[in-house]
Amino acid sequence: MFDLTPTVDPADKPGFYRDLDQQLASLFEGEHDPIANAANMSALLYLAMPELNWAGFYFLPEGTDVLVVGPFQGKPACVRIPIGKGVCGTAVAKRETVLVPDVHAFPGHIACDAASQSELVVPLIRDGKVLGVLDLDSPRAGRFDADDQAGVERLVARYLASLLG
Ligand code: SME
Repeated sequence: MFDLTPTVDPADKPGFYRDLDQQLASLFEGEHDPIANAANMSALLYLAMPELNWAGFYFLPEGTDVLVVGPFQGKPACVRIPIGKGVCGTAVAKRETVLVPDVHAFPGHIACDAASQSELVVPLIRDGKVLGVLDLDSPRAGRFDADDQAGVERLVARYLASLLG
């Protein structure tokens, strides 16, 4: 039903993310359900991106200040993360992407999987409201760079656009 064969060398990061964005667009075609699209996006990223040990979503239920785990791939994770705590809660508090090259150097990092060495968390912001975050973890320190940040932010924009319909 869905071809996951990478068509671009992952070393060409801008090209890789352009390709992934197109794959996401076909995956989301005609579907606006936030859980369904988050589930498929987690699966696609986990399979397509090299060196990940966790890929998934935390959602912020309306009117609350605690993130709750959503669809993901990887080991079972911490269920609730208060705003301001850990890398995920920090991304919500700052309303911006947090790129952590070495999780051991990030005060307050929450270790759900001891294998994680670096992390990239992008907030989901729609109409000025934070809906949650996309969290990617890697077993390699320094796995994520500015190209990954730009690429993953583009994928998150694609996810947010998929919810409108
Ligand atoms: N490390 C995250 C917690 C979530 S897990 O990595 C899946 C954090 O510090 O917020």
